[in-house]
Amino acid sequence: MTRKILVTSALPYANGAIHLGHLVEYIQTDIWVRFQKSRGHQCHYVCADDTHGTPIMLRAEKEGITPEALIERVHNEHSRDFAGFHVEFDNYYSTNSPENKQLAYDIYSKLKANGKIARKTISQLFDPEKEMFLPDRFVKGECPKCGAKDQYGDNCEVCSATYSPTELKNPYSAVSGATPVLRDSEHYFFKLGECADFLKTWTTTPGKLQTEASNKMQEWFESGLTDWDISRDAPYFGFEIPDAPGKYFYVWLDAPVGYMASHKNLCDRLGLDFNEYWNKDSKTELYHFIGKDILYFHSLFWPAMLEYAGYRTPTAIFSHGFLTVDGAKMSKSRGTFITAESYLSHLNPEWLRYYYAAKLSNTAEDIDLNLEDFAARVNSDLIGKYVNIASRAAGFISKRFEGKLHNGVFAADDYAVMPAIVELQKKLQGASDSIAQHYEGREYGRAIREIMALTDDINQYVDTVKPWEMAKHPEQSANLHAVCSFLINAFRILTIYLKPVLPKLASDVEAFLNVAPVQWEDAQHLLLDHTINTYSHLMVRIDPKNIAAMIEENKQTLEPISNTPAAAPSFDIPAIAETCSIDDFMKVDLRIARIANAQHVEGAEKLLQLTLDLGNETRNVFAGIKSAYKPEDLIGKHTVMVANLAPRKMKFGMSEGMVLAAGGDGGLYILEPHAGAKPGMRVK
Ligand code: 2FM
Ligand code: ZN
Repeated sequence: MTRKILVTSALPYANGAIHLGHLVEYIQTDIWVRFQKSRGHQCHYVCADDTHGTPIMLRAEKEGITPEALIERVHNEHSRDFAGFHVEFDNYYSTNSPENKQLAYDIYSKLKANGKIARKTISQLFDPEKEMFLPDRFVKGECPKCGAKDQYGDNCEVCSATYSPTELKNPYSAVSGATPVLRDSEHYFFKLGECADFLKTWTTTPGKLQTEASNKMQEWFESGLTDWDISRDAPYFGFEIPDAPGKYFYVWLDAPVGYMASHKNLCDRLGLDFNEYWNKDSKTELYHFIGKDILYFHSLFWPAMLEYAGYRTPTAIFSHGFLTVDGAKMSKSRGTFITAESYLSHLNPEWLRYYYAAKLSNTAEDIDLNLEDFAARVNSDLIGKYVNIASRAAGFISKRFEGKLHNGVFAADDYAVMPAIVELQKKLQGASDSIAQHYEGREYGRAIREIMALTDDINQYVDTVKPWEMAKHPEQSANLHAVCSFLINAFRILTIYLKPVLPKLASDVEAFLNVAPVQWEDAQHLLLDHTINTYSHLMVRIDPKNIAAMIEENKQTLEPISNTPAAAPSFDIPAIAETCSIDDFMKVDLRIARIANAQHVEGAEKLLQLTLDLGNETRNVFAGIKSAYKPEDLIGKHTVMVANLAPRKMKFGMSEGMVLAAGGDGGLYILEPHAGAKPGMRVK
């Protein structure tokens, strides 16, 4: 039975680049959609840029362009990056579209007619200089719990406390620096509290949510559902609320509606029936792939909005975990915050698709991109095992059999190789259902393991029959033909199974095999009496040097900290900084270093380049001490350095540490230990 399936991925904000973290979701979804299409189902994959809200408005202002110009530029960049990773949407649209405006109004007016919209006056922080209400993230100040400075209005990055922006001490606007004032304003609310019974049933309906998401729901129900503020005051980039001039829909109201709008736009283009998908009794399937951080919006607000506006609700919400790189959160200073664009300039997108697939399951567990393992796994699985099958057989088919595969008629009993071939072929074709089930259930890691176990079987078989030996004996020519034709067929079947993950490679294989695009069912037929093209390299190995170059490129360039001027006649003693714990202090690894070399840096006003000898290693450090020292006076001196400071990429090269110097208005002096301290000694 052909299913009608509509699939979405979360809409990325139109003010930032796509990075490898985003790609977990788009690759996960794209694999699922390609799999469904390969099974012959009618499956559409829609997405869009999430274009509204304060950050986008302010970003455009900062760049001196209109929000429309910004979102158009980002739309092009996002489309380019997704295409680069072979993420193939049926429609990639924008939430700033006429369809979205119409649908957002439609849903809002139906919710209102259903008594689900309330108006309440609330008091919020207002920037008197910029004349705008401030979203939580745009108010900064001191944490009300621990007193840490420069914390955001919603939570403290130092002590993890959560609070409301009005609780911050000494608050200031991150937009203008002004001190915010409290101001009243009337807001529109979606009465989520009244939807609790519906939501309890919906979220516990089997198949709607993963187990861990269901459990999270229970926690939210226990703490009570509060009504949701869906309006924002001007100035705001978004849709003005029809019956409330000067009020706009909060970005998260029209973002999920953007799924519908992108689909509507697709339906209008292709002549499909939009209502068939969205009416209350729709028989079609609707799936949203999301990150676990936006579960609340998708499992509570969104189904409730649809339900009370008279539309169908999602068939299921699939959430995934976050990406870590080498076991840690992506980091700009370590160079592991990797943009799609940067990845593509160094590495093949299908390597990442394969690695993510191998790691993905149907849970919301985080997945780790271990860069060493990434290279090892791709090289071993894809090049060493899978592509190897084709390269082992193709040469013989071209050279000995004019590129033609065996016709499958095995009459004579001298086909000693046949029993094993028949058995392996059965195994390969028989795996179809189980691999399909893994894809269907988003257990891609399992699918990959099963496919790779099959490639192991095939390679073992090659090692046993040794076609290269057969080729030395003319009387074994028929066997050689049968074996190599089987290997090409095995390779074709494996390609069918891998095609949702490796679409570009599969299309290169189709060209090599001289066949039309393969579908899932094609695994059950063999390619016989058919001429293939000559084999040329399908995929190269990952060179770890390219990974290293990519990481290097992504290390954030930090400008050197500006130096203090040279000796001044008098100076103020600065106040002692806040206290830090002994544990924090002990994290800093201070070492004695001998200045082995010091030199000027061409083009640098304040820096000297130092070569620091740590006893068993040397470090390159750029220090802002040019105003105080001649390089030749420093050579041979001992000083103290921070040895475990993360390397920083500076304009002139990598700086691998920092020397300690006393500085201020009164001059600049590097610290020097008493005579006798040796390079590498720990300073405690
Ligand atoms: O979290 C985000 O990046 C949002 N832009 C996702 C929106 S998904 C949907 F609801 F539109
Ligand atoms: Zn705090």
